[in-house]
Amino acid sequence: MDRIRIAGGRELNGTIPISGAKNAALPLMIASLLTDDTLTLENVPHLADVEQLIRILGNHGVDYSVNGRREHQNGGYSRTIHFTARQIVDTTAPYELVSKMRASFWVIGPLLARMGEARVSLPGGCSIGTRPVDLFIDGLSALGAEIDIEGGYIVARAPKGLVGARYAFPKVSVGATHVMLMAAALARGETVIENAACEPEIVNLAECLNKMGARIEGAGTPTVRIDGVTSLSGARHRIIPDRIETGTYAMAVAMTGGDVMLEGAEPELLKSALDTLEQTGVEIVPLNSGIRVRRNGAGIRPVDVTTAPFPGFPTDLQAQFMALMTMAKGKSRITETIFENRFMHVQELARLGAHIGLAGQTAIVEGVSGLKGAQVMATDLRASVSLVIAGLAAEGETTVNRVYHLDRGFERLEEKLSGCGAKIERISG
Ligand code: UD1
Repeated sequence: MDRIRIAGGRELNGTIPISGAKNAALPLMIASLLTDDTLTLENVPHLADVEQLIRILGNHGVDYSVNGRREHQNGGYSRTIHFTARQIVDTTAPYELVSKMRASFWVIGPLLARMGEARVSLPGGCSIGTRPVDLFIDGLSALGAEIDIEGGYIVARAPKGLVGARYAFPKVSVGATHVMLMAAALARGETVIENAACEPEIVNLAECLNKMGARIEGAGTPTVRIDGVTSLSGARHRIIPDRIETGTYAMAVAMTGGDVMLEGAEPELLKSALDTLEQTGVEIVPLNSGIRVRRNGAGIRPVDVTTAPFPGFPTDLQAQFMALMTMAKGKSRITETIFENRFMHVQELARLGAHIGLAGQTAIVEGVSGLKGAQVMATDLRASVSLVIAGLAAEGETTVNRVYHLDRGFERLEEKLSGCGAKIERISG
């Protein structure tokens, strides 16, 4: 299993190109199931999760072709991929494929809307209680689907097609909102979704669906109206820049000090995180070409943070922000409200010398004057990258084990960081 070795304690200076957003690419790729025409996506990141979803979609009958194109000087790639689901050959998403990536469960929406049936393995093979899909079931049922659970699979049927309805989510869910948009686009009549997720990735999907002929209004607000149509066509659509990658590198610079241009980043996609970073004493300069992040000599001020659905502080930046706070001058409190058990990075950060106590869903971080390199273990995608940025700031050598998590969500991480003066390398095996 690959490891990443970092010789820490160096400032970051230079330019980092920001890739297309993983969390926008995945639902957009899944939307290709809605039409027999070609959906062309630009700015698709090269990530393990994208490759895995290509395999999953292939199983349903989606063909694809790639136009590679070198776009940035600094090693960033942007791919254009054409997806065509001329014929859906299989409406089952098997356990072996879905268990590897939770988002692949989302194929349930377009398969059901286009084919009148879908049989999709429960994600991770866990029970509904621990990896809930109740919001998907309730939402699709509101559109007239009959849903059963058979042998670890959700079986959804709507032989006469889905029917528009009014549905209020009891809790905000990004994935369930994506699925409802895709399903309602091909339902008969009007659907009104209340308490919809407002994340930029939802807007990116809705804009693409509208180009394909859907009639969706209000995406990006809690109330979304969808006037169903009988079929959708192909389209060409660009994936937004990755706001989590942007925030991660901004926090890396905040930790190490230095001056980095995040090329192609869009500040309005992560306003809350950038405002928080400014409060810590980092200089953030929005420019036409991206965001410049700078911190010189001055110390890091402690700031309390509570994660929340968009436009709040994203849960996907919580671990990275905690890494930053380990070196702040004083105490900060970080509260996680979206996911339980999303503090796996705490004990690994402690191996680097961080002082963090846990009280329920709140971490109390007592800043230390410096971190020291150590061996650490990556536990999930965002936790892994928090260890990398902590390693960049720590004195001495840090080895991050089990880096396959990073490859799921960070394109060419070592290259991008090396380009800014970091000493970071991958050790194979
Ligand atoms: C997406 C993102 C993930 C991000 C998360 C929250 C992708 C591929 N992943 O995940 O990176 O961390 O949004 O911003 O875009 N829930 C239920 N029942 C359900 C569905 C969800 O209770 O049927 C709960 C979840 O357990 C969680 C909360 O709702 O506590 C939010 O989850 P959700 O927004 O659905 O996350 P994902 O879409 O899986």
